[in-house]
Amino acid sequence: MSETPFQAIRVTDRVYWVGAIDWSLRDFHGYLTSRGTTYNAYLVVADKVTLVDTVKRPFLDEMLSRIASVVDISRIDTVVSLHAEMDHSGCLPELIEVARPSKVLTSKAGVGVLDAHYQLRAPVEAVVNGAEVNLGGARFVFHETRMLHWPESMFCWLPDDQVLMSQDAFGMHLASQERFVDQVPTDATSYETAKYFANILMPYSDLMGRMLVKLGDTVKQTKVIATDHGPIWREGIEDLLKRYETWCARRPSRKLVIAYDTMWQSTAAMASAIAEGASSAGVRVAVMKLGLAHRSDIATELLDAGGLLVGSPNLNGQMFPTVADLLTYLKSLKPKGLVGGAFGSYGWNAGVAEQVSETLKELKVESVGEPLSVKFVPRDEHLGKCRAFGELTARKIIEVAGG
Ligand code: FEO
Repeated sequence: MSETPFQAIRVTDRVYWVGAIDWSLRDFHGYLTSRGTTYNAYLVVADKVTLVDTVKRPFLDEMLSRIASVVDISRIDTVVSLHAEMDHSGCLPELIEVARPSKVLTSKAGVGVLDAHYQLRAPVEAVVNGAEVNLGGARFVFHETRMLHWPESMFCWLPDDQVLMSQDAFGMHLASQERFVDQVPTDATSYETAKYFANILMPYSDLMGRMLVKLGDTVKQTKVIATDHGPIWREGIEDLLKRYETWCARRPSRKLVIAYDTMWQSTAAMASAIAEGASSAGVRVAVMKLGLAHRSDIATELLDAGGLLVGSPNLNGQMFPTVADLLTYLKSLKPKGLVGGAFGSYGWNAGVAEQVSETLKELKVESVGEPLSVKFVPRDEHLGKCRAFGELTARKIIEVAGG
């Protein structure tokens, strides 16, 4: 390998990681990326050289440097675009100017999506779904994965290398100098894998479940899952797939998420009393105050939860802005199979808990009972009702989750 400022990392004998590490990313369209991320691109060096995906545009030089540590950039014969979102396609125009590849391969839908983004100075060709293509001595099998999570998304399978390149699926937002999941502390990779599924793939979990079934035989042979974000999987693949199957099947557990905000601690006191009741009735409780807990971490907690209660104070007759933010975000993620309800405090305008309750119905959260409201400051009798509301919710969760 050549001495370049940034070095490629060998994944298999002829597959190299040539991506970029973004230590400072903290927001990925509304998702808190506390640990940064990576943009993964891969070089397959056979008789000819193929580049799979690129990186976000500001990281062009880093990617080019890593490629140059393995081969002269002009040796890239084909570029494969598995996913056209700009964190993976952003460098295509510049890369094509520098490398002059013979073609760009993408899915049938990818041709139009790339055309809507760029005027690429290389032929863009569609691959046939399920087809095996020999690219200069390396076999690639392409599988369309429409709406996972864009319409043009696809996986590619390298049968000779037993590598599955899975673009956004199975990934995580985690920046690390280590390139493999087994080199990074498990608590970080475990949480970030779940957070990624919850915030990127949850709306498409039925599709993802069908994809896992369709690609079952391929996935079973996979030695490496090379994602577009975060470290690469070469160990723990069986456990990863089981976690994905569980999330896709949406199996609620005996867990209640209580998300709330508060102005003068009244709604906070209600949340605490509800948590006491739910816990005493046998469910695990995650109490998350908005403004301290990020919407994307609440979504992550919901991944295996059986229940969701949302509390809001009244602000001039409307739910609190942070509560509206959370509910709007959850509408886009479409969590399934939750029971729950609403609670909150008010001064002179009742009805905010009802507003929250209506939105939860839009989210198809099965109501456990009427919204619970308290005027100004809850007294013991009100907190007793909150505790009972928690117990009621817990019983419903246990009924649904079983076991
Ligand atoms: Fe990592 Fe959908 O882009």
